[in-house]
Amino acid sequence: MSVDDPGKGVGRRDLLSLAAWGAFCASLATALVGAFRLPNPSVFPEPSLKVKVGPPGSIPELEYRKVAGRNLFVSRGEEGVFAISAVCTHLGCVVAPVPSGFHCPCHGSRFDALGRITGGPAPRGLDWLKVAKAPDGELVVDEGETVPPGTYLKI
Ligand code: FES
Repeated sequence: MSVDDPGKGVGRRDLLSLAAWGAFCASLATALVGAFRLPNPSVFPEPSLKVKVGPPGSIPELEYRKVAGRNLFVSRGEEGVFAISAVCTHLGCVVAPVPSGFHCPCHGSRFDALGRITGGPAPRGLDWLKVAKAPDGELVVDEGETVPPGTYLKI
């Protein structure tokens, strides 16, 4: 008895042929879907790390202003404007300003008013962030670019 016996429905060869065509069509469809998705990025752009903090005159002198929605403080001293990251250098908690500088609520690291480490497990002081002046006169802080401590923007 033959499995390819004509007149008895779908034979083995027909079944294998159908399976091969089905696999071919499925792979072609998958390739087409991939080709149409290719122009669309599957990674969404991150929000900018640069933030406008206002005109120089709005920066408080000798005290810190936390920038809304960002983990950074801005201040103005005799040397100019500067920005300090509020992210603790130990494990990344957000520090809080205290009269003597900054305090980390997670493990108790303490920093002076210029972000230098004064106690606790943090390995180093708080990062200073780059401050620049935008063409419209507002100051811009770049959270993605650190500068050496003591780097001020003269205004
Ligand atoms: S995260 Fe700030 S002291 Fe540990």
